[in-house]
Amino acid sequence: MSDTIESILQEERLFNPPTEFSERAYVRSGREYEQLYSRAASNPEKFWGELAEQELHWFKKWDRVLDWQPPFAQWFVGGQLNISHNCLDRHLHSWRRNKAAIIWEGEPGDSRVITYGELHREVCQFANALKSLGVQKGDRVAIYLPMIPEAAIAMLACARIGAPHSVVFGGFSAEALRDRLVDAEAKLVITADGGFRKDKAIALKQEVDKALEHGAPSVENVIVVQRTKADVTMTAGRDYWWHELKPQQSAHCPAEPMDSEDMLFILYTSGSTGKPKGVVHTTGGYNLYTHMTTKWIFDLKDTDVYWCTADVGWITGHSYIVYGPLSNGATTVMYEGVPRPSNPGCFWDVIEKYGVNIFYTAPTAIRAFIRMGEAIPNARDLSSLRLLGTVGEPINPEAWMWYHRVIGGGKCPIVDTWWQTETGGIMLTPLPGAIPTKPGSCTRPFPGIVADIVDLDGNPVESGQGGFLVIKQPWPSMIRDVYGDTDRFRFTYWEHIQPKEGQYLYFAGDGARRDADGYFWVMGRVDDVINVSGHRLGTMEIESALVSHPLVAEAAVVGRPDELTGEAIFAFVSLEGNTEANEDLKKELVKHVTAEIGAIARPAEIRFTDVLPKTRSGKIMRRLLRSLASGQEISGDTSTLEDRTVLDKLREG
Ligand code: WTA
Repeated sequence: MSDTIESILQEERLFNPPTEFSERAYVRSGREYEQLYSRAASNPEKFWGELAEQELHWFKKWDRVLDWQPPFAQWFVGGQLNISHNCLDRHLHSWRRNKAAIIWEGEPGDSRVITYGELHREVCQFANALKSLGVQKGDRVAIYLPMIPEAAIAMLACARIGAPHSVVFGGFSAEALRDRLVDAEAKLVITADGGFRKDKAIALKQEVDKALEHGAPSVENVIVVQRTKADVTMTAGRDYWWHELKPQQSAHCPAEPMDSEDMLFILYTSGSTGKPKGVVHTTGGYNLYTHMTTKWIFDLKDTDVYWCTADVGWITGHSYIVYGPLSNGATTVMYEGVPRPSNPGCFWDVIEKYGVNIFYTAPTAIRAFIRMGEAIPNARDLSSLRLLGTVGEPINPEAWMWYHRVIGGGKCPIVDTWWQTETGGIMLTPLPGAIPTKPGSCTRPFPGIVADIVDLDGNPVESGQGGFLVIKQPWPSMIRDVYGDTDRFRFTYWEHIQPKEGQYLYFAGDGARRDADGYFWVMGRVDDVINVSGHRLGTMEIESALVSHPLVAEAAVVGRPDELTGEAIFAFVSLEGNTEANEDLKKELVKHVTAEIGAIARPAEIRFTDVLPKTRSGKIMRRLLRSLASGQEISGDTSTLEDRTVLDKLREG
């Protein structure tokens, strides 16, 4: 302990992996990490090929590990596998058949433990239910569920029959759901009557009905899980209850052999322009990379109880609640609830109840816990914990220190993991037994990941200097395409940084710097994406939602720093004609955005203004609005501003 305090007083706080942790870890020292890293760098195909052979089950071996025709990568070309087989069937021939695969805790306090044997049976039956409704390999299936085991069962069932899933976060509104159903041309939607969140039953089926009413013509059927027992309207011939459909099905459903490059899922995420984009992930590379990162980063052992608090509606839930842990045969906890006034300590109760060893959450949650006070976690027994993780946004060093001290009891390494929907798996992270950590830094690249910080021409910047975070070599779980829009795929990720001819760099959209030890420090988005509580929201999406209100003439949305949520949404709005600007209208607009996108996009502040600052070419100068929103002085060049008096008016507003 005293070591820790001493090092805190120094400028550079450095935490070495505890010896007891390192001794038992998969990767035990900095030297072992360096060896893995250089093996992967010198011959990536050999490195990934060997791991694919050792760690996964293949129905047919690949002909080539990698085919890289920038920006299109194909991994394990010619190989065949099924991720649901790797997550289920192969664990059934050992003692793991009766091991807990999923431990689920509902918000009202109900719970379920599902063994690998049971999960396999459930998945097979539900896969047959999907088939009975005509779902075939290649058909897209949307999943719009609360955090209940059926979400994981549905994903695995889709994967089993080769129907790519598109999970839509249950907090999205009917409109947002509809956009995603239409874009993916989903054939079927799996939903629930509702889910419990913050002591209320949230309606989901109702949102699906609204989405379908507004037009999602590809959808033929809806399967409804009964969760809250709320009244729902079932349309005969279209809607089926999960609990009526599934039990009739055979528990025999062989996993479909999938080509390694067959699409596994689409997941929508926000970008800086236009509608959310459907990030496409495929089977083999995604399975291998999420498997290896889960194993080495969370140092996941058969005896561990592992808990990631994300929602399956986000990539973190896909890779690190469902696929990565189950592929490793681990026990993964799913929790329906979130900390709430009636039960601010619910996370710590879950840790105590199940003896959770590995806990992975988001900085925004940690900041909320700090506010609630350490008496709450201190009242629980958290001694089972041996490793902590964070994801979603940069973690401020003080939150890191609190997490380390109060939750980790000063003894648990923290893995600060940087990655994205598009990367499929964790890219920059400590390996907990090998890499000393610095609060606020996601440290080093995972073996096989070649990351750099460059300027717009692709030239590496000097250490300590800020620049654009890029990935220089393909990796197995990389984004393959934007669904239905390959131009957007090229443009968004491969054409921002323009290096020498023939060189392709993956542009992450984040700013970062690297220190003298080669540690990465991610600073945040450099594009018009706002990160609210670790959720990515495009400013354009929120602006479009605002402008779709009849009284709004124009809107500009920016992020401003927020102590709790990282960033908060600040909207500048100009109104139509002689509309009176008042508090009621503000409230109405907030409600309108919530209805269009969902509560996660709720503006924290709306400021009415007659005019928005624009360049002479008519582009809104967001940089100025960002300064105004965060109460900073406007610095930098304002000479391109069309009308200088606009700024004074905005300041007064
Ligand atoms: C941010 C979530 C700093 C980053 C897995 C990235 C982070 C975006 C970290 C992706 C981290 C995620 N440190 N920033 N450890 N993790 N981010 O697609 O801006 O929802 O580009 O994936 O979150 O968000 P996404």
